[in-house]
Parts: sequence; structure tokens; C-alpha cells
Amino acid sequence: MEHKLKRILYGGDYNPNQWPREIWKQDMIFFKDAHINTATINVFSWAKIQPEENRYDFSELDDIVDMLSREGYDIILATSTAAMPAWLVKRYPEVARTDYEGRHYRFGERHNACPNSLVFQKYASKLADELAKRYGNRPNVTCWHISNEYGGVCYCENCAKAFRVWLKKKYQTLDRLNEAWNTEFWGHTFYDWDEIVPPNQLGDGLWGGNTAFAGMSIDYMRFNSDGMLDNFKMEKAAIRKHDRKTPITTNLMGTYKELDYFKWAKEMDVVSWDNYPSYNTPWSRVAMTHDLMRGLKNAPFILMEQTPSQQNWQAYNSLKRPGQMRAQSYQTIAHGADSILFFQLRRSKGGCEKFHGAVISHAQTENTRVFREVAELGAELEQLGTKTIGSVNQAEVGMIFDWENFWAVEYTSGPSVNLKYVDQISRYYQYFYDKNIGVDMVSVEGDFSKYKMLVAPVLYMIKDGVKERLEQFVKNGGVLVTTMMSGIVDQSDNVHLGGYPGPLREMAGVWVEEIDALAPTQSNRLVFNDGSESSCGMLCDVIHPETAEVIANYGEDFYQGTPAVTRNAFGSGCVYYIGTVPENAGIGKVLDLAVQERGVHSVIEEETKLEVTVRSTEDADYIFLINFTDEQQKVPESLIGLTDLLTGDAADSTECMKKYDVKLLKKERNSENANE
Ligand code: GLA
Ligand code: ZN
Repeated sequence: MEHKLKRILYGGDYNPNQWPREIWKQDMIFFKDAHINTATINVFSWAKIQPEENRYDFSELDDIVDMLSREGYDIILATSTAAMPAWLVKRYPEVARTDYEGRHYRFGERHNACPNSLVFQKYASKLADELAKRYGNRPNVTCWHISNEYGGVCYCENCAKAFRVWLKKKYQTLDRLNEAWNTEFWGHTFYDWDEIVPPNQLGDGLWGGNTAFAGMSIDYMRFNSDGMLDNFKMEKAAIRKHDRKTPITTNLMGTYKELDYFKWAKEMDVVSWDNYPSYNTPWSRVAMTHDLMRGLKNAPFILMEQTPSQQNWQAYNSLKRPGQMRAQSYQTIAHGADSILFFQLRRSKGGCEKFHGAVISHAQTENTRVFREVAELGAELEQLGTKTIGSVNQAEVGMIFDWENFWAVEYTSGPSVNLKYVDQISRYYQYFYDKNIGVDMVSVEGDFSKYKMLVAPVLYMIKDGVKERLEQFVKNGGVLVTTMMSGIVDQSDNVHLGGYPGPLREMAGVWVEEIDALAPTQSNRLVFNDGSESSCGMLCDVIHPETAEVIANYGEDFYQGTPAVTRNAFGSGCVYYIGTVPENAGIGKVLDLAVQERGVHSVIEEETKLEVTVRSTEDADYIFLINFTDEQQKVPESLIGLTDLLTGDAADSTECMKKYDVKLLKKERNSENANE
């Protein structure tokens, strides 16, 4: 199903149920003044709309929906199942979760239901059903928002039983399961399915989140992600009984570890996500996360939440500086969003989020910096209209991201506690970001054929079929860049025997005999063929090139003078293998070679410190320029003369962009052809 929005959704989470009705009237005026056109409602109202087990009361929600519809707002209607009412937990304690330490929870907090509780499932799907029956055909309901930020893990008895069912389906026999989990280790052989218990701290989960049997723990993560996804699908099915058309989503959380979002995205009509970088998150990391969210369905997404200014749950909740929210919003659109939505429209007066930023502050006036910035952006987006909606980001580089691999890398015991999957991915992403080379984040099942280059840092787990897909890509002329800790294990965390990097050995043309781990205070050096040097550390593979040529050798230690970085021609393409964790300059040096070799392009000709991102339609390129640096930056020469859609003026060479300045330049595709 194609779901193209009719306008850029602008607004956010709105909780009029927390306020007396006089305030609602005031809100309607404020929202209009801020050019807000969308409200996400009913996110945490289960207790209100179902005050007791056998009674629903939609009277207040009816009034809210009526009011917003009358005023012409798009409504994102949540199903409220992310926070259970107290009566439900009191009456049926099994709906609450059991945690990693084995403690069974009582009533409290949110995002707290056991996904495998039949009682929870019954009441949640019934609620979704009632809501869809009542509001599903309202023309203003633009999108369904199931639950909220699914996440966490439950280890209760319901889950233990469901886990065994899931395992039987996957392995069919205990012999296969024992083999997959290598249970001969520590004499863990299972003779009955009932002997299997969830791997939390009372079982095979070790202290600090590690595990004695990664195969089991990874399966538990798969099972938990699938179970929550089943909850989503269950509510979706309930909605679809009454509403066949309206797109259905749930708000995701970027690189959130516990859920396999590539799998989730297949069930979602549109991806939406909540973007909460902290004061020191690099902008490249934010860009990467947007690209990941776009990559889940390879389609534009909805930004469901961002704060207009301040956070409350981070350690240091700094204000967004003047212009920062606008710049961040355009970055979001540049990387694929067709909406800008805030958490929240009105700052609550009690509860743990009372210091969380909002469009309307506790002063309850329009006369605040934040309100003015929101209103200015609203006016600008309204004026921009529909031009960028549905446009696509095209990339020559694909970067592999795989949740099962993420779990495996971080469950495994050794060789270094400092190896963090997303950190490594981000370091490679940053090279492309700094060079304004577009990147798609792709799953191991993605379509590799459209890329010139694939980058697969720490592809530790090589599942069935992945070797063949990567070989095909390289044979056909692609350049693959991979790194230390790749090709090591199969889907159950059992090592691919026969020498690292296992299934990648032939295409990389190297054998890794040993992996050294360096403490943070230790380092080694990369010595490139041209004599230049760069520091490296954390892990150092001891490599024997088989068919590969050497790009850099180690400068220190007993493996001094042996290869650290190699390149292997394979079919019409080649594989770069980086056997260590180089500093950024070292990564840059290797990627420069790979990029040049395959002719990968930046989105603009010249080098610039501006972030430059392009979204395209059939007739035009929309070029987003953002200055995230502290210094002024000039508009790149090649873009001079193009019209800035935000001001209507042509970009000119005397202009300087200050920190957080944005330009959105339009380049007709035909005129480009005409010039050639
Ligand atoms: C999440 C939730 C919201 C709110 C915000 C605060 O994204 O979905 O309900 O708690 O965090 O940042
Ligand atoms: Zn449970």
C-alpha cells in the first residue's frame, strides 16, 4: 500500500485529557497560531476510556476527536495500550512483567505488559477493536499509532511457556536445539522441553547482562521481539476489521537494541520514530539513525516525536539553542521524514515529564522563544507545501545493519568489552557523512545490487545465505568493506570452523589466525604503503594474506610488519578487510581508496563542512544544506543560483551560512540535462 501524506504533518502529542476544558479552547488558538495541523492523541488514556473491566467510556475522547476534526486537524490516533490501567494489574497480576533479576512487577509505570499474557492480549485487542469501530472511518484520522515505544523484555512463566512453543517451532527436535546451543558445554543438555527456562539472571543469563549460552539468549531476543510484534499485529488486525485503509504504525526508537526493526517494518504500513539526541550526540549519528529508519522500509518515514527544546530524562537536559530545532527538523526531513511532530504540545504540570519541553510552556503564553520558533517553522513548512513529500533519497553506498548480529556481538564474552556494534557502525558512517556521500542502511536481506559499495563493519554473525549474497555482490563488481570481528559465527553464535573470517575468508583473501585485545591505554599503529601512519587499537587481528594485497601493516608489537588492512580482488569487484579499530583518519584513508576505486560520488562536487543531503522526485532534486559547525560556511559554488525554497531567493556566492542556518535548494532535473 502506498501512503502518501497530503501535507507535511506538523504538531505532536496532545493530552487534553490532562487539562480542564477551558484550556482546550486556548489550545485551539495557540495551535492555529503555531501553524500546527496534527495532533497525536490517546497515547496513555486506557484508564480513562476503560475505567473498569466491563465498561468503556469514550465521551471525553469523542469530544476531543470532534473538536480536532471541526478545526481541520489530522489526527494520529493511538490505541493507549502502552500503559495498563491499575484495575487490570490488580485483578490479573500476570499481565505485569518479570524482569531480568526475576522480580515480578506490580502496578506502575508504562511499557510494562507481558507480551505473552493472554489476559493482556485479550484486553488490548478488545480496546483496539472498540477504538477502530468508533473512530476508524473518521476522515481526519490519518494514522493509527499502536501502543507506544514497544520495548523491554519479560521473563515470566507465561513467557517461559511461550518460549518453549517458539523453540519447538524453530527446532522441531531437542537434538537440534541442543546442537544449536552447543549444550554439551557445561553439561546443559536438555532432555525435556520443560527444562528450558528463560535466560535471565536466575538462569543462564550472567551478571551484567552477559550470558553463558549466547545461542539461547539470542533466541530469547528473537522470541521477545517476535512476541511484541505479535502484539502489534494483533492490534493491527483488530483495527483492520473496521478500517481497511488508514495507515498503521508504532513509534520506533532508532538503534534501540531489543527489537529487530527490519522484521517489524514488514508489518508496519509506515515507519515512525522518536528522535531524542542529547546535547553531545554527533549530528552524523543523528543522520545515521534517520537513514536507518528510512532504510527499514526503504521509504519516507514519520518523525513521531522530538522535543521542541528540552528533555527531562537525560543526564543534562540542555535547551536547544536558537535555530537548533529548525536545523534539526530540516535534517530530519532531508533524511526522509514527511512530518515534524513534537513531544509534546502542552507541558504537563505533574508527573516525571513536567520539565520536558513543549510547544506551550508552563507560562501558558505564546510569548516564549520556543513557541515563536515552532510557529516560524510551522509557517515555513506550510509555505513549502507538498513538494518534498514522498521524494526519495538515493545512495550509492549501502551500510549493513543487522539486529541479530547486534545481539550476538554484545552477548559474546571476549575479546573486548569495549566492542559496541552501533559505535563501530557510526564510525564508518561518519566518513560518508563528512564527505556528503549518501548512505542507505540495509539489512542482510536487502537488495545489494543497487549499490556500488557495501560497508559491513563487525559483521560477526553470518547467517545462512549471507555469504552467497555478499559474494554475488562483489563478483558483479561491488566493493565490500568489512572489518575485524566479521564472519566469526553462525545464527546460533557457534563459530564457523576453518579459520576466521569463516565464510568471508575466500572473498577477503585473508586468514585471521589470532585476535589481540588492547586496553584503552594501549595502541598500535597502521603503517600504510605510502609511509603515512595512523593509530589503531581495541582489537588487532593477526592476519595471513592468502590472495589479498596489503594496504597497511602494524607498526608495533610481535606482529609488527604484518598486515592490518588488506584488499582482495574477487570476481569483478574487491573486498577491503580492516583487521583493527583505526582512528577516524585511518578509516578515512582506507575508505578513500575504496571510494575512488569504485567511483562513488558525493552529492555535490566540492568539499564543504555543510551537511548536504538530497531528496529527489522525478522532476527535481531538493538539496538540503545545513550548517552544524560553529563557523560560518559558504554556499558551495556548484549550487549558486539555485532557488532557496525557504526564502524564494537564489543562493548567491557572497552569502555565508551561520551555525544552524538551513537552505533548501531546488534543482530541476530537466535543466540539469539541458546543461549537459
Ligand atoms: C518517549 C515517549 C513519550 C515521552 C517522551 C519523552 O518518546 O514516547 O511518551 O515520554 O519519550 O521524551
Ligand atoms: Zn512475560
